[in-house]
Amino acid sequence: MDPTTYKATVTAAFNDAAASYDQYGVEFFTPMGRRLVEIADPRPGQRVLDIGCGRGAALFPAANLVGPTGRVLGIDIAPAMVEEARREASRQGATNVDVRVLDGEAPDLPTASFDVITGSYSVIFLPDAPAALARYAKLLDNDGKIVFTSPIFRSDTFPFLPPVFTDIIPRTLLRNLPPEWQPEQLIRRFNSWLENVEDLRSTMTGAGFADVVIVDEPVELVAESGTTWVDWSHTHGMRLLWQHLPPTESRQLRERLITALDAMREDGGPLRLEVPVRYVSARVSR
Ligand SMILES: C[S@@+](CC[C@H](N)C(=O)[O-])C[C@H]1O[C@@H](n2cnc3c(N)ncnc32)[C@H](O)[C@@H]1O
Repeated sequence: MDPTTYKATVTAAFNDAAASYDQYGVEFFTPMGRRLVEIADPRPGQRVLDIGCGRGAALFPAANLVGPTGRVLGIDIAPAMVEEARREASRQGATNVDVRVLDGEAPDLPTASFDVITGSYSVIFLPDAPAALARYAKLLDNDGKIVFTSPIFRSDTFPFLPPVFTDIIPRTLLRNLPPEWQPEQLIRRFNSWLENVEDLRSTMTGAGFADVVIVDEPVELVAESGTTWVDWSHTHGMRLLWQHLPPTESRQLRERLITALDAMREDGGPLRLEVPVRYVSARVSR
């Protein structure tokens, strides 16, 4: 898989997903973005850049914290996501928020023009993230910091899904994906730097950061029901699997997931799943 095709496919997928992204009665991206901003802790008056802002899960909490004297710029490669975030900014009357269509891999922005850079589940989609991180270090002013989240990639689970799904989704279904879209291939090609803590730490220091802190912490995903979770799964990374499943397998997987997930609900309450998330924070080293 060449980086250009990968990037174009990722962009098309998020453009298609934008209208329904994070709108299916499932709480996951919103609490993760909120927690990321809590860790980043931008102060009133600071300048924040949010990479791959999507509909604004981190962007708007950051805007609240920097207040009217600060400013927050969200950038995303998918124009439909930018449109949704812009609409939300105007709905909220957020005057300190700007959103632009820009490739997060090499954003053409002035050096030393931000105090904080955030990236909630977005840096993982950059074909050459280590090179992008080095550019982010230059965009940060003295003592600036970066905080981003990533899934915890493990060989026995599907990327983006908590371990509980390993038993529910038969691995044989992955054979329906073209070879270059096999999760293991993709991780090896684009995310190997995130796979283990030592590589991640040395990537960060090599990119110009110090005081690297890596914390693994679960986000509690809450969905109204198994059906809600399955509908939601068409709007993120798992969409790729759904797109490649023949109709019968797709129907069977849907039913299997709904039954298994509904069985995990207590007393007819919502489905609650702990999703492991990695929070990486660092300071620019000058
Ligand atoms: C999983 S979503 C996360 C969105 C948002 N940060 C959130 O937490 O809800 C990943 C986002 O990264 C964006 N993205 C992917 N590749 C990108 C790139 N090269 N430059 C900028 N944004 C990118 C996608 O369009 C998408 O909006």
